[in-house]
Amino acid sequence: MVPMSEAADFQRAQPMVPRIAHVRRRRHDAPDVWTLELELTDGAHFDYAPGQFNMLTAFGVGEAAISVSGDPAAGPLIHTIRAVGPVSRALTQLGPGEPIGVRGPFGAGWPMAQAEGRDVVVVAGGLGLAPLRPALYRLLGERARYGKVTLLFGARRPEDILFRHEVESWRARFDIDVDVTVDHAGSDWRGHVGVVTTLISRLEIEPAKSIAMVCGPEVMMRFVALALMDKGIGEGAIYLSMERNMKCAIGHCGHCQLGPTFICRDGPVFTFARLRPLLTVKEL
Ligand SMILES: Cc1cc2nc3c(=O)[nH]c(=O)nc-3n(C[C@H](O)[C@H](O)[C@H](O)COP(=O)(O)OP(=O)(O)OC[C@H]3O[C@@H](n4cnc5c(N)ncnc54)[C@H](O)[C@@H]3O)c2cc1C
Ligand code: FES
Repeated sequence: MVPMSEAADFQRAQPMVPRIAHVRRRRHDAPDVWTLELELTDGAHFDYAPGQFNMLTAFGVGEAAISVSGDPAAGPLIHTIRAVGPVSRALTQLGPGEPIGVRGPFGAGWPMAQAEGRDVVVVAGGLGLAPLRPALYRLLGERARYGKVTLLFGARRPEDILFRHEVESWRARFDIDVDVTVDHAGSDWRGHVGVVTTLISRLEIEPAKSIAMVCGPEVMMRFVALALMDKGIGEGAIYLSMERNMKCAIGHCGHCQLGPTFICRDGPVFTFARLRPLLTVKEL
């Protein structure tokens, strides 16, 4: 087994060279969405911060940026992937024992240190719950460090609810408030119907001591950030995770550039204060 620090040093020195991992388990989470548990062949534990991402290689097909969705404190390296194109489809079709390339972790993650001592509002839309899950594990695993924790989660339909059993187990806890909504549902759905911003109007918070972490489709994040500002949370305390096309993930190729900002190197997590002017800049 390679010591953890040695493996991390190798990745820092050779950021374009993937390490090899094998799929340990593959689970179907929602239509077109699979979760892969990976094991690095060098046996090292994969150290990362909540909100960071890896470049995953489907050999012979290509690479894609995928956030880590597991528990940063323990367990295997976990990624949750929606099959939208050639690379993501190939990744989601990998079965147990098959090899996969892993470069990373990259980027600046969720503001876990800034959140200490404050109330934390986590807002996820659809697959956006995957990059937020490591932050939720950290918030719940080190519960005494944070104030009130709230998760607002919106999915398109009940069958799109990600990590359903886990969301239900969080909902049963007394130390986190969980509110779930779907955009559309049949008569058998007993929960809330409406976009995730409708949950924000009934949110009870002390805005001055709150911090928000938001991930989902870009338009959803923009509306959520504005609704959180209406509640009194400052734009500097609202953090969003951005997606752009990525190639190198280390600030060299310019594929992910948004104005003067490189999403891979400077983000993917940014405050709304920083992103707001950039969201009006046309993608390069
Ligand atoms: C920092 C970061 C973290 C990411 N984390 C995840 C993650 O945890 N899980 C995950 O599944 N994806 C994640 N993505 C998105 C993923 O990298 C892209 O979906 C990737 O481009 C897929 O590659 P592809 O070759 O399969 O499809 P492409 O050929 O790149 O795209 C195929 C088609 O799908 C569309 N498309 C691309 N991305 C998306 C998307 N996100 N949603 C809807 N349509 C899309 C494209 O416009 C195109 O029409 C992340 C991206 C970034 C930048
Ligand atoms: S992906 Fe190359 S600069 Fe960001």
